[in-house]
Amino acid sequence: MASPAAGRDAGPAAALAPSANNPQQHPKSPHDDVGDVGPVVEAAPDTTTSDLQIEAEEVGTDDNDSAYAESAQSITTSLKSSITSYKYENGRRYHSFKDGSYYLPNDEDENDRLDLFHHCLTLRCEGKLHYAPIGDNPQRMLDLGTGTGIWAIEMGDTYPSADVLGNDLSPIQPSLVPPNVRFEVDDIENEWVFSAPFDYIHARYLAGSLKDWPRLLQQAYRFTKPGGWVEFQDFDMRFYTTSGEFRPGCAMDRWSAEIIAGIRSFGLEPEPGPLLEGWIRDAGFENVSHKLLPIPVGTWPKNKRLKEIGAFDLVQFLDGLEAISLRILTTVRRWSPEEVQVLLVDVRKELRDPRMQAQHNFHVVYAQRPLDS
Ligand SMILES: C[S@@+](CC[C@H](N)C(=O)[O-])C[C@H]1O[C@@H](n2cnc3c(N)ncnc32)[C@H](O)[C@@H]1O
Repeated sequence: MASPAAGRDAGPAAALAPSANNPQQHPKSPHDDVGDVGPVVEAAPDTTTSDLQIEAEEVGTDDNDSAYAESAQSITTSLKSSITSYKYENGRRYHSFKDGSYYLPNDEDENDRLDLFHHCLTLRCEGKLHYAPIGDNPQRMLDLGTGTGIWAIEMGDTYPSADVLGNDLSPIQPSLVPPNVRFEVDDIENEWVFSAPFDYIHARYLAGSLKDWPRLLQQAYRFTKPGGWVEFQDFDMRFYTTSGEFRPGCAMDRWSAEIIAGIRSFGLEPEPGPLLEGWIRDAGFENVSHKLLPIPVGTWPKNKRLKEIGAFDLVQFLDGLEAISLRILTTVRRWSPEEVQVLLVDVRKELRDPRMQAQHNFHVVYAQRPLDS
């Protein structure tokens, strides 16, 4: 259950490469100069509650503080129609290519949430689009499950030398993009057929998307150039607190447990974050670094930057709650839409309560394919 001990899930020790402690200066990104963003923990078995501590700001006792909430191209043409004949359920739009294999909608509301969350996660990563030391002139880059493509587009802008390819089940990326960025519809769990290997392969927030992570990592190894880098950034889905009123069994906790169980019964992995390091090592990568970044939910932290990050996180949860819950709870968990809405009322209330001081963990793991491999 969610508890301060959630830090234990950080997994086996990260043997830090000398370079890993010195992420190189890279060209300016839109998120540079973010200031102090709070704990960035080099994950290790002895990670303790105090490592994950985010200092809370004092709050009032108002039970229903609404002011608080406010502060806060392509596969073949013949496949085109199967890609864009979207499915609709409970008023939300879902991808049609490989129908049913992914649980979140792909409509405008969800795409706005993903773009907002991109900003939140990049701020949490100290304004960096990546931690892997890829140098100033990277060439071929791949973004797996690119979503709206916002990360790939910013990487293309940041590194004019690079040719950035983003792929996804859904063709939801914009068409007006930098000339060095392109997108393809693809299922990354299929056999990869790229014409050449990449200097850098990136994937973020694929929690709940994939069945076979070890195979994905093996394919990533085969398609990384010797000496090239991979970087995976992902979540565990449990909330916890180090000093607030969040408790196991509360509505937020029950909600995340239901979502995790529902995603698992689809055969998908809901919590890849703590497992990434092991999979990456097993695939044969070396110079593995693992960072553990607790993310606050809400504007309760004292630290100004964490307060901003927590505000974005709260808004993306409030915006995404229905989308995250509907398909899973109404299909595999067999709840009625009304039952879902009843739980969500309580979850929203707790999300907005600054006394909960809830947070959750984001894992960043990057590693290198050996030069002599
Ligand atoms: C939660 S979103 C994250 C998007 C993006 N990586 C980001 O960080 O903003 C997950 C994305 O993975 C895509 N996805 C899920 N399963 C996939 C698969 N098997 N192959 C390709 N894309 C997939 C979804 O369509 C969705 O756009």
